[in-house]
Amino acid sequence: MTSCPFHVQPARPAQHLPPLLDPALRMRPVGEPLPAPLRMHGGPLAQTFSRWLRQRDDTAHASEKAALTRALQALSGDEVRSHARRQAEIAMTGGWPHWSWAVPAATVASLLGLPMTDVDAQRRLHGALRAMAAGLSATADQDAVTAGGAATTTLLKALDRAERRSPDAPLQSTLLHRAAPSRWTDRATFAANRLALIWQSHEAGAALLGHALLEMRRTRITPSRDDLLRIARDGGAVRNTRRFDADGAVVVVPLAGTEHSFGDGPHRCPGQSLTLGALHAALEWLAEKSDWQIPEPVSPLSLPNMDIPQFPESPRTPLSPQSPHEERHP
Ligand code: HEM
Repeated sequence: MTSCPFHVQPARPAQHLPPLLDPALRMRPVGEPLPAPLRMHGGPLAQTFSRWLRQRDDTAHASEKAALTRALQALSGDEVRSHARRQAEIAMTGGWPHWSWAVPAATVASLLGLPMTDVDAQRRLHGALRAMAAGLSATADQDAVTAGGAATTTLLKALDRAERRSPDAPLQSTLLHRAAPSRWTDRATFAANRLALIWQSHEAGAALLGHALLEMRRTRITPSRDDLLRIARDGGAVRNTRRFDADGAVVVVPLAGTEHSFGDGPHRCPGQSLTLGALHAALEWLAEKSDWQIPEPVSPLSLPNMDIPQFPESPRTPLSPQSPHEERHP
């Protein structure tokens, strides 16, 4: 029997896509590209935020994201490893409160050619990223947005300088070759997303590295890349993300406990491999230093979507020569 062409089929129930794959769920509410504090106070932080791939669902997103992803994929694992080890070594001169905070972002900055040659340079980078974080807070006042804007301008200028002086720095070079400014809507969008690589590595990287340190302190075993993925999956990195539906209502999407701790769909993290390589290399460096002992953590910095472990200053205590830590890493 053939079906009548004029018969209207009853509507099928809407297909339920996982939220991260659902094009109806957006990164920002419709017509609101900026959160309220940035909308009210404007400035360089607001301009940069609105250009970030992380905040956009426009038609240019896919091609710009693809170029950025190719640039990150072209990074050599050896370069990532050697820059992470160097930054881990420099960061240890700043002590435990500094180490896990500094290493992820300083490694990305160094791969981009910023001169991360001493702990003061790392501290300046960290200070600028904390100022950006304060300016991006939902409760930021005018002073915080202004200070975040000044920090943004400083980092954008430093990256422009690095492009002129160190175009062969590993990540600067892969960006210039595979995600060149001409592939982006405009030069400012390229520059904003180059800075986003450091920004995106900052809190999520510190959360994951901090949780890896907690595990290493407990087990005395250096987490592998797979262990780092498991730690992230178990809630040791970004625990959830948000989307907005067509009415502007927030949809909270869990990531912890899923196979998508680095996201999924069009906004999936392009920095996963860089993160796992850099953090594993930094932890390996640490494991080789037999005279460091990871101290008991103090209260973490609790953000809505992640906890960032924090560590106190502690004296350099030699590890026992019998410890399994040393057996694993002679
Ligand atoms: C070098 C370090 C990192 C870089 C360069 C980086 C870069 C990025 C970028 C550019 C995006 C936005 C992609 C888009 O919207 O199209 C992103 C998204 C994301 N990143 Fe990363 N990231 C890094 C570290 C991390 C870490 C340590 C985690 C934690 C596991 C993480 C988890 C995520 C997640 C969950 C998203 C998706 C957010 C969402 O869909 O709402 N990233 N990352």
